[in-house]
Amino acid sequence: MIKVDDLSVNYGAVRALREVSFDAPTGQITAVLGANGAGKTTLLRTISGLVKPRNGDVHLDETNLIGMATENIARLGVGHVPEGRGVIEELTVEENLRLGALSAKVNLAEGLSEQYERFPVLGERRRRHCSTLSGGERQMLAMARALIARPRVLLLDEPSLGLAPQVTAQLMRTIRELCENEDLTVLLVEQNAKSALRIAHRAVVLHLGSVVANGDAQSVAADDDLRRYYLGVVVS
Ligand SMILES: Nc1ncnc2c1ncn2[C@@H]1O[C@H](COP(=O)(O)OP(=O)(O)OP(=O)(O)O)[C@@H](O)[C@H]1O
Ligand SMILES: [Mg+2]
Repeated sequence: MIKVDDLSVNYGAVRALREVSFDAPTGQITAVLGANGAGKTTLLRTISGLVKPRNGDVHLDETNLIGMATENIARLGVGHVPEGRGVIEELTVEENLRLGALSAKVNLAEGLSEQYERFPVLGERRRRHCSTLSGGERQMLAMARALIARPRVLLLDEPSLGLAPQVTAQLMRTIRELCENEDLTVLLVEQNAKSALRIAHRAVVLHLGSVVANGDAQSVAADDDLRRYYLGVVVS
C-alpha cells in the first residue's frame, strides 16, 4: 500500500500540495483527478523522490520514501511514467526498453520478450525510431519501459493525453489488466476523469493542491457536484 500522509509541497510562494492524505491500496487502481494545476504531477514527482516536500510522509508498506534518493525509490519497485511519456525520440523502441532495464536486476532478454508479448506492436516495431510511433504506441512503450523493471507500484501521469477516445479506451483496459494480472498498485493521474473512473477502484480529487474528495471510484463518479465543479464533466 502507498500511504500519503499530510503532504505539503511549495514551489517558492506557490502551494502546490496542501496537507494531502490518502491511501492507495495494494493491487488496486487509485485515480488522482483534478483540473490543470491541481497538483497531480507534483504528487507523483514527490512520491518518486524528484520533489522534496515541505512536510509530510509517503509510506510504501513500512518504508518512508520521503528523504530517499530517486534511484533507491525506483529500486524499491516504484515505476514512474512521466507526463509527456519521456520516451527518447532518437532511440529505437528496443533501445528505450533497454534503458528501462538498465538499473533493475532483470534478465534483459527475458524482460524484452515479456514486454513484446504484452505489447505485440512494440515487438513489430522494435527497430523503429520512436519518432515514427503513434501516440498510443508511444504510451505503450513508456509503460513497457517502466514495467520491464518489474515494479510493484506504477505511477502514470496523464497516459491518455492527446490520444483518440478509442485508443484511450484500449489503454485503460490494458492498465486494468496489468493491475489484475501483476498485482500492481497503480496511481493513475488523469484530467480525463470519465475514462479513469471506469477502471479505477478508488479516486482522489485534488483542487488547488487540496484533497476535495477521496473514496471509492463509483461514488466519486456518481457525485454530480464533484463532476461539475472539479472534474469538468458535463452533467446531463
Ligand atoms: N517547477 C515548478 N515551479 C514553480 N511552480 C510549479 C512548478 N511545477 C508546478 N508548479 C505549480 O504548482 C501547481 C501544481 O502543478 P502540477 O504540475 O503539479 O499540476 P497538475 O495537476 O499536474 O496540472 P496539469 O493538469 O496541468 O498537468 C501549479 O500552480 C503549477 O503552476
Ligand atoms: Mg500534470
